[in-house]
Amino acid sequence: MYKFIRSLLFLLPAETAHQFTFFCLKWACKVPFVKALMHQYYFVENSFEFEGIRFPNRVGLAAGFDKNAAYLNELAALGFGFVEIGTVTPLAQAGNEKPRLFRLKKDSGIINRMGFNNDGVDVVIERLKKRPKKLIVGGNIGKNKITPNDEAVNDYRICFEKMYPYVDYFVVNVSSPNTPGLRELQEKGPLTAILSTLVTLRNQFIKQDFPSKPVFLKIAPDLTHTQLDDVIEIVKETGINGIVATNTTIERNHLQTDKNLLQQIGNGGYSGKALFDHATAVLKYINQQTEGQLPLIGVGGINSVSSAADKVKNGASLVQLYTGFIYEGPGLVKQISMALKKIN
Ligand SMILES: Cc1cc2nc3c(=O)[nH]c(=O)nc-3n(C[C@H](O)[C@H](O)[C@H](O)COP(=O)(O)O)c2cc1C
Repeated sequence: MYKFIRSLLFLLPAETAHQFTFFCLKWACKVPFVKALMHQYYFVENSFEFEGIRFPNRVGLAAGFDKNAAYLNELAALGFGFVEIGTVTPLAQAGNEKPRLFRLKKDSGIINRMGFNNDGVDVVIERLKKRPKKLIVGGNIGKNKITPNDEAVNDYRICFEKMYPYVDYFVVNVSSPNTPGLRELQEKGPLTAILSTLVTLRNQFIKQDFPSKPVFLKIAPDLTHTQLDDVIEIVKETGINGIVATNTTIERNHLQTDKNLLQQIGNGGYSGKALFDHATAVLKYINQQTEGQLPLIGVGGINSVSSAADKVKNGASLVQLYTGFIYEGPGLVKQISMALKKIN
């Protein structure tokens, strides 16, 4: 059934298909009982404790899909145990010029250069005030394009402070390839500054009787082992909770898609099937270097039960998907949740 719907949706440009799908889903969910029936069909209960949070199951929607926290009720009905909203920036921004989202059917993948299009933190928190209570919501935060890197820490601080009462965990995004210079923030100096500022802020919230909320760092799959060693050291030194591995890749080496088409598409991050090995190798490396002690969330190229199980085998406590969800539909969320229940 989903394959049929997909073949129709794939006739539309990728970004239009995304908007159209959620427009329809939102309306369908307003029909009495539809949302409840969908939830009953797709959701698999598999209560899982991770970093002080009880997740309804171990399968999440990766950042970038619901950037503005606009579809949380509908996504919960599709079976996700958690949804990472964002990347949210302090000010609203339009993102890059369209077209900026491209399907690579031969690679079951996507190239995107969205560029953090989002409504800005103030609008997002208004929506979060009405969020579904049972769904776990992560807040993925970033900096505005116009903010220079030496002032980036301030953007992360603003988003963190404003969103703290409304999300369950945070992800610091310094790994998107689509905001110029952002990935330079993965270097020692700026990364330490950002993460230690957020940990100090968290301590201040705790003093005011807020619960402690986990902070994760989302990294690119394109880091060298030396860079990964630095990241691990900084994560330990600053006292954040763990790592989300990984974001999209700028590499095009393993793709089947015609080189001319890739050239025509141009810059952006690739996600999907061909990212799996690369992202899992990063996850595995971090897990080995930290002797399985660092809390990890695995994302990148999951498109089947076995690929999700591989992430868990290589150290991930939770998994997230984005592109696999587009290609395989909500049935995949259910299948993975059921499978991970058996390997708890
Ligand atoms: C269209 C699109 C937009 C994305 N936007 C974000 C984003 O705003 N912030 C972020 O941290 N990751 C973003 N991502 C990356 C995903 O969260 C995920 O890390 C990546 O796609 C790899 O997972 P996948 O292979 O399952 O898609 C985006 C991915 C896609 C395809």
